[in-house]
Amino acid sequence: MSAARAADRILQRPIPKTGETIPAVGLGTWQGFDVAGDAAETAQAREALKTLVDLGGRMIDSSPMYGSAESVSGQLAEELGVKSKLFVATKVWTSGKQAGIRQMEDSMRKLRVERLDLMQVHNLVDAGTHLATLREWKKAGRVRYLGVTHYHAGAHADLERHIKPGDVDFVQVNYSLAEPEADRRLLAAAADSRTAVIVNRPFAEGAMFGRVKGKPVPEWAKDIGCANWAQFFLKWILGHPAVTCAIPGTRNAKHVADNLGAAAGALPDEAMRRRMAAHFGSL
Ligand SMILES: NC(=O)c1ccc[n+]([C@@H]2O[C@H](COP(=O)([O-])OP(=O)(O)OC[C@H]3O[C@@H](n4cnc5c(N)ncnc54)[C@H](OP(=O)(O)O)[C@@H]3O)[C@@H](O)[C@H]2O)c1
Repeated sequence: MSAARAADRILQRPIPKTGETIPAVGLGTWQGFDVAGDAAETAQAREALKTLVDLGGRMIDSSPMYGSAESVSGQLAEELGVKSKLFVATKVWTSGKQAGIRQMEDSMRKLRVERLDLMQVHNLVDAGTHLATLREWKKAGRVRYLGVTHYHAGAHADLERHIKPGDVDFVQVNYSLAEPEADRRLLAAAADSRTAVIVNRPFAEGAMFGRVKGKPVPEWAKDIGCANWAQFFLKWILGHPAVTCAIPGTRNAKHVADNLGAAAGALPDEAMRRRMAAHFGSL
């Protein structure tokens, strides 16, 4: 199937501030793409990125915190000739205005882009300083969108404070059946402020697969197209209307395909989401 035809099957969600759409499942590069110097692992990462794009995915998420992941992603995107198709997100993770500028310029070189689709303040480190720089960069066309991230419920109130004024385009946050706390306020605050939501840790860093190991996906979940547990977990996330995109981390091409499959076909409604949560809670 051509990438264009595959993309037709993949759910696209709008970025609220502009209406531009992105596929509802992307790819996280933490750990999986920190593989420079290892030819076999780099080949796996290449296959994973190729599979993402072949199946209609576009969004990749990286950070200078992830070792060689930015440079490996940039190199593979160029080798595969898919640079123009990708929506590239990375982060700034340092303190001080000049250090932030140096790091962001370094990330653009490593990712081999002249303009980043999305630059996020990683874990809110020196957020005020970097957001001020990023507002200037956005005006100058060096980044298209700006955002803030965290991975822990303890920071959700801080994330909410940053998105409430309404001039942050994206919030990236942990949200899953195992870590559902963003449900309490943050996702509603994102919807109210028209902030796009990227979901990190959709599998609680893989721990959720340990919990369901050896247990079958329930038959009733197959009615909404959950062919495997990854799709069960991701469809529950995507069933929340405030979620724009989830970014499971892997360099396993088969896992990329399973994950993209969650963005095809039906999604659970609220009653089904409650049933899925109750079932997961019972395991
Ligand atoms: N503060 C932040 O901004 C922040 C924090 C955390 C994460 N993130 C971002 O979010 C991304 C995702 O989070 P994460 O990587 O921590 O955790 P995750 O996506 O919840 O889980 C990753 C784990 O799930 C496994 N996995 C992925 N797809 C699978 C599938 N279809 N079937 C079975 N296992 C599967 C992977 O194993 P395999 O490798 O074997 O596939 C890996 O061990 C990161 O890569 C990063 O880009 C950002």
